[in-house]
Parts: sequence; structure tokens; C-alpha cells
Amino acid sequence: MIDPSDLPSIPVTPHEWDAKFNEDSEAWLFGREPSEMAKLTLTYWKLIAGERKAKLIDFGCGQGRDAVYFARHGLEVTAVDGSKSAIERMHLLANEAGAELRETACVDVANYAIVPGFDVYYSHNCYQFLGDQCLRKIEQTMNATAPGGINAISIFSDEAERARGTDGVFCMPHNRLREIYAGWRLMYYAENILWREPSLAYLSFAIIIAVKQTI
Ligand SMILES: C[S@@+](CC[C@H](N)C(=O)[O-])C[C@H]1O[C@@H](n2cnc3c(N)ncnc32)[C@H](O)[C@@H]1O
Repeated sequence: MIDPSDLPSIPVTPHEWDAKFNEDSEAWLFGREPSEMAKLTLTYWKLIAGERKAKLIDFGCGQGRDAVYFARHGLEVTAVDGSKSAIERMHLLANEAGAELRETACVDVANYAIVPGFDVYYSHNCYQFLGDQCLRKIEQTMNATAPGGINAISIFSDEAERARGTDGVFCMPHNRLREIYAGWRLMYYAENILWREPSLAYLSFAIIIAVKQTI
């Protein structure tokens, strides 16, 4: 039986994430390949917008596997993360891929004003680390999105026990993310439980890709 106190703690703050990325400066913590969510997001953008180029912002881009993928496919990408180490690695990945990122910023997303002007607002497993500000940040993201724009968000759900109760971590209740996006065109929604090697635990996620409708 695993003693929970033996499990690695989940990094929460940008400072803790930076330390995690710095543990092994050669490692790609989440890999170099794009996530399935990034691939789906690009597919859905093309479905609704054809070859029209998108401006995309990636909140909590980490070492850039998704941001660089979007840039490689011609999107104009702004990528932000609270970890300096992760941002540096993203630049390396972009250089190796011959991809150009429009803008990058090392900032705490909690203090980052979410402004209109992007076609795709993307965040893959970052907003949960905003704790009790998480729902407010999702609301700001939705408000900033113009009709026809996409929100693609993956966030911890409360299904698996591992993250639940961790200080500063928000876990989305069952079906809540879908309810928040009521009135938007739902392109994809899932809740799943996945083994996460860096955490040596099952973690659970709610994932949504939705298009804001014209009122
Ligand atoms: C689970 S990782 C995901 C990284 C990336 N999206 C991916 O899928 O490879 C979470 C990322 O969110 C960033 N992060 C967490 N809290 C943050 C905050 N308050 N402001 C900015 N970035 C934050 C971490 O530095 C980390 O890179």
C-alpha cells in the first residue's frame, strides 16, 4: 500500500513549478510532442475557420510543446507561463522546430489581464493552480472571447483523489465545466482519469473545446 506522504507533492505556485522544471534542466517534463488537446483544438479551428490564420494565447504553456505546435502550423502564438525555466526551454524547442512565437511572457497568470483580440484562448492544465481565482479566470477568458472564437481548457476535476484537498488547487466538480459553457457551441467535452508519471498518481481532468456563439 502506498503511503500518500511518500508521493511527490504537486507543484502549485509558479515558484514551485520553476523549481520542478529546474530539477532536471535537460528533461521535457510533459514531452516535446503536442498534446491530444492541442491537435483537437487545431482541427476544430480549421473546421470553423478554414485556412484563416488564428491568433492564439496559451496560458501556462510550460516547455512549449503545444505553443510550438500551433506556431508550426501557422498560428500567431502568444505563450505565457510563470516559470522562467520552462519559457527558456520553449524557446529552444521553437528554435529546433524553426517555429516563430509572436510573444512570450514569464508572468503569473493570476495577475495577467485577459484581453480581447485572440481567436483561440488555450490553457492546458494551468488554471487549476489559480485556486479560488480559477472560476473568475475562466469567466474573464469567456468575456474576452469574441463570437466565433474558441476556448480550449483542460483543468483538474475532482474525480481522482490525488489533487483534491491540495492547498491552492481547484478541482472542477463533475459536469461543472460543461455547465459554465452553456450557450456556447460544444465541439468537445470529456472528463477522464489518467495516470500521470510526474505525480506517480492518477489525476482527473475536465476538458472542453467550445466556440462562442453570436448573440
Ligand atoms: C501541468 S503544467 C502544463 C504545461 C503545458 N501546458 C503542457 O501541457 O505541457 C502547468 C503549467 O502551468 C504553469 N503555471 C502554474 N501556475 C501558474 C501561474 N499562476 N501563472 C503562470 N503559469 C502557471 C506552470 O509553470 C506549468 O508550466
